Amino acid sequence: MNAHVVDKMRSAFQRHFGSTPSFVVRAPGRVNLIGEHTDYNQGFVMPLAINRAAWVAARARDDRTVVLQSENFSKRDEFSLDRIERVQGAEVWSNYVRGVAYILQDVGHSLRGMDALVWGDVPMGAGLSSSAALEVASANAFAAISDLQISPLDLALMSQRAEIEFVGVNVGIMDQMISALGQEGHALLIDCRTLDYQAVPIPDDIAIIIADTMKGRGLVDSKYNERRRECEEGARLFGAVSLRDVTPEMFEQKQSGLPEAIMRRCRHVITENGRVLACVEALKGRNLSAVGELLRQSHISLRDDYDVSCKELDMMVDLAFEQRGIVGARMTGAGFGGCTVNLVEKEHAEVFARQLTDAYLNQTGVLPSIYVSTAEAGTQIF
Ligand code: GLA
Repeated sequence: MNAHVVDKMRSAFQRHFGSTPSFVVRAPGRVNLIGEHTDYNQGFVMPLAINRAAWVAARARDDRTVVLQSENFSKRDEFSLDRIERVQGAEVWSNYVRGVAYILQDVGHSLRGMDALVWGDVPMGAGLSSSAALEVASANAFAAISDLQISPLDLALMSQRAEIEFVGVNVGIMDQMISALGQEGHALLIDCRTLDYQAVPIPDDIAIIIADTMKGRGLVDSKYNERRRECEEGARLFGAVSLRDVTPEMFEQKQSGLPEAIMRRCRHVITENGRVLACVEALKGRNLSAVGELLRQSHISLRDDYDVSCKELDMMVDLAFEQRGIVGARMTGAGFGGCTVNLVEKEHAEVFARQLTDAYLNQTGVLPSIYVSTAEAGTQIF
């Protein structure tokens, strides 16, 4: 599959730029199994890299110009490394590449100009981190073209900075880190305080099925930033640096004195961190009913305490739990629309996907998109 895309990228590059690329980078999108809205609270997350990715084929230029050709939008954009500005309008996709170049230079790396062909099959706006994938792919392309030795973790951190400082969304580290560091057949338990990580095997007989509600994530950026502020306020009321430092016992003692909404935001983050660690143990011990219950509780907490679900996500999760072969389901990503993640016994996966599609269509009149994924490797250069 990857070899096929590499060939396609090479011939499209040839068509657009009249020469062969020096390399092709693949950086995957992600789905988060559990640990939602915990990364920016220095907590735990457990995402995996999916079988959809952003791709960049590149070749160095002799000048300081970056020429980008988007295969998705059939658009060309170019900028000078000496003056990187944010663009508005049709070319916003180019901001993810521009932002990464901007940050790499900001920390002192010297970059070369390049011709680059960009393509991706991570659905956009569905909450599967198409932007993080493009950032990480671009960061790797700039590093390779400029002969820079930068670790995957540092490239992920600079990609996150690009999203925060250049694109303007105050995200955590989860999406960029899993895109850079994913491992085939595994999810990654990431400690977002220390940035230590550990691969957790996905059982062979479990399929990962992503169900897109098709509900656009309209309010996501403003609500996301609002949740971040509420968590900071919560941590402040506990006298803690972040909610990571608030134990369930501390929460019990103090909760009645907290403003109601802040109390619920804190309760979500604190209990969710516990669920991530419990889920790691349950997966390792192949205790699938425990995994399923943890996913269910995570969804309920995101719905009732964190207020980031919506009726479409709730419906998709409820319908999933009615199907044969279901292990567990929950909303995934920032919320307010987008996708659910479903762990399903492989032998029932096909029927599950079909029946969930029919059931959701029946209830809502909307045809959902279903993506069956495996846990893939993080960024690769071909
Ligand atoms: C978005 C952000 C991540 C994370 C999730 C919620 O995907 O980019 O950093 O905060 O939302 O878990």
